Amino acid sequence: MAQTIGIGCDHAGKELKQLITDMLKLTTYTVVDYGVAADCKTSVDYPDYAAAVAGDLSKGKLDLGILVCGTGIGMQITANKFSGVRAAVVWDELSTKMAKEHNDVNVLCLGARMTNHMRACDLTKQWLDTAFGGSRHQMRLNKIREIEQKK
Ligand code: RB5
Repeated sequence: MAQTIGIGCDHAGKELKQLITDMLKLTTYTVVDYGVAADCKTSVDYPDYAAAVAGDLSKGKLDLGILVCGTGIGMQITANKFSGVRAAVVWDELSTKMAKEHNDVNVLCLGARMTNHMRACDLTKQWLDTAFGGSRHQMRLNKIREIEQKK
């Protein structure tokens, strides 16, 4: 069955979100757009969009998420408040590879003001195409899950 990806951004991430959405529409993934709309003329608050995507992922309504803001940092901080979410900002091939192979990142965060937009699209594709390493990495993720459940 096709996987569903939720994608959201603030005003700083609008253009990059559109590029990534257009790219994903050419794949087998089902893409759900959480805004902000491309024609939005005002500033918006990144936590609102991060919470919408990460909240639905946490509830099992999404398989994966992509969040774009100026740096990706605010999106990452907010998304990681939700149970079962492993969000990380990536900026190059190695951080992207590690994020998936070692950490099984399920919410990719991108900084539209930090990373060339074409490169960010390539990194998104790389993240989707990379497999989680499992074994010792799974054990470590289990520990994160235990910490989360103790809260
Ligand atoms: C918005 O100006 C900016 O703060 C936001 O896009 C993001 O970079 C926050 O982490």
